[in-house]
Formats: sequence, structure tokens, C-alpha cells
Amino acid sequence: MQRLMVTGGAGFIGSNFVRYMLEKYPDYFIVVYDKLTYAGRLENLQDVATRFAGRYAFVQGDICDSVKVEATLKDYALDTIVNFAAETHVDRSLMEPGSFIQTDVFGTYVLLEAAKKLGLERYHQISTDEVYGQVLENRSVETDNLKPRSPYAASKTGGDLMVLAYYESWGLPVTITRGSNNIGPYQYPEKVVPLFATNAIDDQPLPVYGDGLQMRDYQYVLDHCEGIDVVLHKGKIGEVYNVGTGSEMTNLEMTKIVLATLGKPASLIKHVEDRAGHDRRYALDVSKLRSLGWEPRHTCAEAIEKTVRWYAENEWWWRPIKSGELYQTYYAAQYGKRLAQ
Ligand code: NAD
Ligand code: DAU
Repeated sequence: MQRLMVTGGAGFIGSNFVRYMLEKYPDYFIVVYDKLTYAGRLENLQDVATRFAGRYAFVQGDICDSVKVEATLKDYALDTIVNFAAETHVDRSLMEPGSFIQTDVFGTYVLLEAAKKLGLERYHQISTDEVYGQVLENRSVETDNLKPRSPYAASKTGGDLMVLAYYESWGLPVTITRGSNNIGPYQYPEKVVPLFATNAIDDQPLPVYGDGLQMRDYQYVLDHCEGIDVVLHKGKIGEVYNVGTGSEMTNLEMTKIVLATLGKPASLIKHVEDRAGHDRRYALDVSKLRSLGWEPRHTCAEAIEKTVRWYAENEWWWRPIKSGELYQTYYAAQYGKRLAQ
């Protein structure tokens, strides 16, 4: 595995992963294959394109386009697919589920079919703790039943099951990682931590859904990338591995850390109408990945503080997004009525 196609590599986690891998493995070659939806941005990779010229290429394409996927794999003689490409925001999946089914399920099938046809060495699927559904007690282990509750989570579950079906049916060399909430540089400011950090910088309200007592495991994105790297190199074929800190906190606790890091008042917190079907808690057991020698390097609190500082220091990245028409239209649809109530 030295020539990787990283699908969705212009998005948040994918771009961090590409930078991490090219820095760590001087003999690796990576092609980012990305449709460049609203969440995919070449700015996320602008340093990569210059620092790693000769070991990095970018192809704009849809994972649902089997002809372009196969041509890219052949043109660059790639041996591995790491699939980050997905529609990823739960709130958007409640507005229009169709694109989630198309990319997260059908797109995964297209990539699997190409991997099978071309006899690739590995297909790795980036999945999520949301496939287990909400976990009110204990922690999810990889063999638990999947009980997704949102259209996003259901689509990701469809993708996971298709990956495992290709392993069971044809012995395709697959692995899956299921990550908890990632935070860090280049996360589109619709997800809660970058949204709250950038709103707080501008003294705008932080819209906390419902009572804010939902629990999430906020992990630093590079800890997740390191976990994926460990599974790619030491994971067992056909297996699933959870990746997270193995601890969690409430959204209100997270919000208070965001505010404290920026020195902003609690009066910015505004409780608003809850998300439909809002999962109360996710909690992963990460001992299987730990047994491969991986350890998270940041606690949830450290990850939040570090992330908030990045947004405070990198307004060049997020201001153009937030002031754009696309973002403003989304923000009005998602929060207009909520914040007015
Ligand atoms: P993101 O929304 O920031 O990026 C998604 C990327 O996929 C974008 O670059 C987008 O352009 C691309 N894309 C979307 N549809 C495509 C298509 N049809 N063809 C090609 N490219 C397409 O997402 P992210 O937060 O970086 O998440 C990456 C992956 O990790 C996803 O599979 C997601 O389900 C999973 N995941 C995310 C988190 C998290 O907290 N963000 C946690 C666990 C798992
Ligand atoms: O758990 C992994 C998942 O984490 C990934 O698979 C998803 O791609 C990623 O989007 C994320 O999903 P969440 O729904 O957990 O993340 P989000 O940032 O949207 O919300 C985190 C929590 O904050 C959740 O309980 C909802 C709440 N929230 C979110 C927003 C956007 C608010 O209270 N207010 C908000 O405005």
C-alpha cells in the first residue's frame, strides 16, 4: 500500500489525513479524488499541493461515476482506496436525505466494485459511531448491532454493510474504522465546534439544541488520522475498529470550553428547538484499536481548546465561507426560525 486514492480528501478529515500521510511516509503517492461539494475545498490542501508536488495529485470527480473512478485508479496505478467521501452533516440529512443515500451508499458500492475489478490491495472505509445509534448505557463495541436513527447514520450504515458484503462474498481486502466526533483545522463551520467558535468570535448566539445534555466524544482529528494509519498497516482484513477518546462530555460542557478559550460570556448561549430524532449519547469502546498500539493524544477538552485557537488564528479560512451566499442560505434555513423563537 503505497499509492493511495483518498476520496473526499478535500474535506475536513480527508485533507488532514493526506497531509499526515505524506509527512509520515516519504515514499507514498496520493491522489485526492473529490467532487468538491460545498464541504470540499482546495484551500484545505493548498500547502499540500506545494509541499508535496510530485507525490500528490488532485482529480475532481464523483465517487458515483464508475468510469472516472476506474480511469483514475488505472491512470495513476493506485493500489488502495481510503474512502472519506460522503455527505456528512446530520442536519442536512434531515433536510434532503437523497444525496446522502446516493453518495454514502451508492458511491461506496461504485468504489467497492472498482476495487474488486482492479484487484486493489486494500479498500478502507471511513465510518462513524453514529451507525450504532444512540447508546444510553455502556459503550459500543465493534460487534454490536447497528441501529442508526438519522438519514445520515442510516446511509453510513448502508455503506458499512456493503463493504462487509464485499469481504464476505468475494474476499475483498477491506477494513473499516468507526470514528467519534472529529474536531480540528478545516472543519466546515456548520458542525458544532467550528460553528460555536466562529459565532462566539463575532459575539453571535451559540444555538444549543434542546437542553444541551447530549453527550459526544470530541476527538482531535489527527488522533483519528493516526488510528486510520494504524488500521491500514496493522489491522486485520475484514475487521472493524472504533476510533475515539473513549470518553465523552455534554454539549453544554463543550460550549463552556469554547467560550472560556475565547474569553466570551455565557450569555451567548441560546437554547433552541432540538434536532429531530437527536441521538442522546454516543460512546465508543476503543480497546480493540488500543490493542494495536494506538493511543489518543488529546482529551476532549484539549481537542476543543486547540481547535478553537485554530479558528481564532485562521479567519482567512472561515470568513469567506460564512459570508458566502450558500452558507447564509443554509444558516437562515437551519437557524432563522430557531433563533427568532
Ligand atoms: P466533510 O463533509 O468535511 O468532507 C466530505 C468530502 O467528501 C468533501 O470534500 C466533499 O467534496 C466530498 N464528497 C462528497 N460527496 C462526494 C462524491 N459524491 N464524490 C466525491 N467526493 C465527494 O466530511 P468529514 O467530516 O471530513 O468526514 C469525512 C468522512 O469521515 C465521512 O465519510 C464521514 O462520514 C466520516 N466521519 C466523520 C466524522 C466527523 O466528526 N466529521 C466522524 C466520523 C466519521
Ligand atoms: O459522531 C460522529 C459524527 O459526528 C460524524 O459521523 C458526522 O459526520 C459529524 O457531523 C458529527 O455528527 P454530530 O451530529 O454529532 O455533529 P454536530 O457537530 O452536527 O453536532 C454535535 C452535537 O452538537 C450534537 O449533539 C448536536 C449539537 N448541536 C449541533 C449544532 C450544529 C447543537 O447543539 N447546535 C448546533 O447548532
